[in-house]
Amino acid sequence: MNTDPNSPPVSPGLLARLWHRRGVRTALLLSLVFAACAGVWLWQNAFRREPLPVFNTPEEHFKYGALGYGTLGELQGFPLYLWPVLPELFADKLPGPGGWAAFGLVTEPGRDHPVGFAKVTVGFPGLVPNCALCHSGTVRTAPDEKPRLVLGAPAHQLDFDAFNNFVFACATDPRWCVSELLPRIERIAPLSASERLLYRLLIPGLRFKIGQQRRAFAWQATRPVPGCGRTDAFNRFKINILGLPDDGTIGTSDYPPLWNLKARDGLWLHWNGSGNNLHDELLLSVLPIIKGPAEFDPPGSARLAAFLRDLQPPKFPFPVDAARAAQGQQIFAQHCADCHAFGAAKTGQVTPLTELGTDASFLAMWTPKFVAKLQAINSPPFKFPTIRLTDGYCNVPLDGVWLRAPYLHNGSVPTLWDLLQPPAKRPATFATGGDLLDPVRVGFISAPGSPRKPFPFDTALPGNRNTGHTYGVELPDADKQALIEFLKTL
Ligand code: HEC
Ligand code: HEC
Repeated sequence: MNTDPNSPPVSPGLLARLWHRRGVRTALLLSLVFAACAGVWLWQNAFRREPLPVFNTPEEHFKYGALGYGTLGELQGFPLYLWPVLPELFADKLPGPGGWAAFGLVTEPGRDHPVGFAKVTVGFPGLVPNCALCHSGTVRTAPDEKPRLVLGAPAHQLDFDAFNNFVFACATDPRWCVSELLPRIERIAPLSASERLLYRLLIPGLRFKIGQQRRAFAWQATRPVPGCGRTDAFNRFKINILGLPDDGTIGTSDYPPLWNLKARDGLWLHWNGSGNNLHDELLLSVLPIIKGPAEFDPPGSARLAAFLRDLQPPKFPFPVDAARAAQGQQIFAQHCADCHAFGAAKTGQVTPLTELGTDASFLAMWTPKFVAKLQAINSPPFKFPTIRLTDGYCNVPLDGVWLRAPYLHNGSVPTLWDLLQPPAKRPATFATGGDLLDPVRVGFISAPGSPRKPFPFDTALPGNRNTGHTYGVELPDADKQALIEFLKTL
């Protein structure tokens, strides 16, 4: 290196020579300005996070609030403006009439998206699922009645997998293109020039991302179709989040209720009793929905938890025969309370499968490798060191049991009356997805007029067996009826 201050200056390099040509300088400056504008546009339209929506009541927060910024298609959420267009353009792919309602999604008047989705803006407004999607259910007491939405009830009317498959099918259809989708969007929501450009990029981008997702979820097609009120949440965790190989197990389960959590504090949760730390169990469910710890919204989650701790199931909507229920209470105390009453020693503990005899598939999905991998998650606050492997299913509290049909962890028994029959006498096939309450047997009927096609549940398929849990099956019919009368009061 030349350090002599008297030596002549180094002759200018090629870049410097070019810089002194005006045309080149202008071009360079223009491209810098263009890149800066493109950067600002991209940030504004694809990355800028608006604050999460805040709702006045905890009920609205549960239905429409976000737990953080989402992951769907890794595009931060399903673009809001595409939402009304898909069921219109791809009506031929819907399982029935009624748009999104054909999957059991519930849209309240005045809302542009269903319960169970939060509107989150990361660049563009998108929809991200929340807990109410699978944990709120509808019920009718007469065929001509408007379905009533019960927060915290299992979403027995929802066909979540069919909903996903519909989106997968749309994105692989040749009609998923700018020339088909954009004019339909503009008919509903006039777009600015910038938004139009964004959707021109989003439409093919999403097609690609959803295609990737479809391939990642291809394992689902190799399992019996879950139908309404059920999904395989934990294989999704195992394969798609934790990256473990598909081991062919079936983890399909019924949605449990999500209410009265204060009374469940310390009890083992999840159908197999895999965790008993309420805080961790809630976070475990948040993980698949948001992008990562940095996208998580702790205050929103705390508000949700506080709401769920006190949320109570509604009362049975038909008259209850008090004298008969009192008789039923005695039978319950004798045959059921040990495992099912709050405060009883065995409630919230696990009954070994060898004693219980219900379907083994869900339990087999919980492998030592899966549990070890869950225990190893270390992205605070997402840490689950106490999650465990068990050898049976949990003695679940029965609060609001009238709203929890079909029964058992795999939803294989349609009514309480059927659960009190020996397994051979329980229905081998039945329809799921209906929300008309049968006040006698206590379960749901798929009545005409329901927007959703009933799903044919077949107990002969793997994971769907309706065996076991033979408590009370030997009781005389009158006692079973009294017992059901009491169960209506829980
Ligand atoms: C895609 C549907 C889906 C969504 C969305 C969902 N869950 Fe669940 N949830 C399930 C299923 C299925 C189970 C039953 C699986 C099991 O018990 O292992 C379950 C079980 C649970 C349980 C155990 C309940 C008990 O009594 O054993 C809790 C707690 C829970 N979910 C909380 C949440 C929270 C909190 C959210 C939102 C952050 C949420 N879930 C979102 C499907 C869902
Ligand atoms: C030894 C403990 C035990 C006894 C006694 C017992 N149960 Fe259960 N019960 C369980 C277990 C475990 C499950 C979950 C089994 C499964 O899902 O595979 C269950 C599930 C249920 C469910 C389904 C809950 C849901 O949300 O789907 C109902 C209803 C029920 N029991 C009613 C009764 C009644 C009524 C009696 C008395 C006649 C009774 N049980 C006696 C252990 C017991």
